[in-house]
Amino acid sequence: VGDALNLARVQAALPGSALTPATAQALLAYAAGRGRSWLLAHREERLLPAQASLFASLLERAASGEPLAYLLGEREFCGLRLSVSPDVLIPRPETEGLVEAVVAWLETRNLPSPRLVDVGAGSGAIALALAVRCPRAQVTAVEISRPALEIAALNVARHGAGGRVGLIQGSLLDSLSGPFDVIAANLPYINREELSALEVGRWEPCVALDGGLDGLDLVRDLLSQAPRRLAQPGLLVLEIGFDQGQRVAALCREAFPAARVALLPDLARLDRMVRVETS
Ligand SMILES: C[S@@+](CC[C@H](N)C(=O)[O-])C[C@H]1O[C@@H](n2cnc3c(N)ncnc32)[C@H](O)[C@@H]1O
Repeated sequence: VGDALNLARVQAALPGSALTPATAQALLAYAAGRGRSWLLAHREERLLPAQASLFASLLERAASGEPLAYLLGEREFCGLRLSVSPDVLIPRPETEGLVEAVVAWLETRNLPSPRLVDVGAGSGAIALALAVRCPRAQVTAVEISRPALEIAALNVARHGAGGRVGLIQGSLLDSLSGPFDVIAANLPYINREELSALEVGRWEPCVALDGGLDGLDLVRDLLSQAPRRLAQPGLLVLEIGFDQGQRVAALCREAFPAARVALLPDLARLDRMVRVETS
């Protein structure tokens, strides 16, 4: 174990290596089937050959920049352990704010059986977190990518939420008539030109990131469908790029002229969500 950690330290120090000591520890813990604290207390322990070679191959992949969540096949979101693969976006901590915004709104409404839809469900992170946090809710998760939907199905089964999260393959709200009390969406919103230069585009699926020329293609399409599917009162929450707040708020006001539209910042005070509330 000590030798493996030393090897990782050497690899992390190589020029251009994307490896960090924390990542190396997580990978070694995974390869050894132990917790990280065990590693530090058992530096003299001998790894099995299969564990050592798994660790070496994971280390190499991490050094080339492959995200830890893909290497481990897992990521935590809103306290839920979710399976992930390169077919889905790795759920981000920022997106937990979107779940919080929906939960806060539902608490003010006290609906007996709220109908929620997560558009562009990916791993199912938002849909599942909402199902867990809002036990009376019926959640529909729509996703265009079949491989992503399979990961979402795995996660729904993993958390025993099959009875309350319905999975649908489709584009946006095309196949759904609603009405929904809540429409939540973290759609692709990176503009295509920027995407080609971003590290994230090297690993995560293009269909989860590419928002077209100005990043807002999917947002515009969703806003063209949402007014006919959102209940009154209802809530629409969209995750957005930090520099898209004013543009998306204007699109929302156009689509919902009578609604209250607000931009919600993240912890770094960057615009992260648009919230549209109809009454
Ligand atoms: C930014 S990812 C968000 C994934 C997940 N909701 C999350 O927050 O981690 C966007 C997701 O939208 C899906 N998507 C892209 N275009 C879509 C469309 N037209 N209809 C439905 N889903 C779409 C992608 O496949 C991807 O899973």
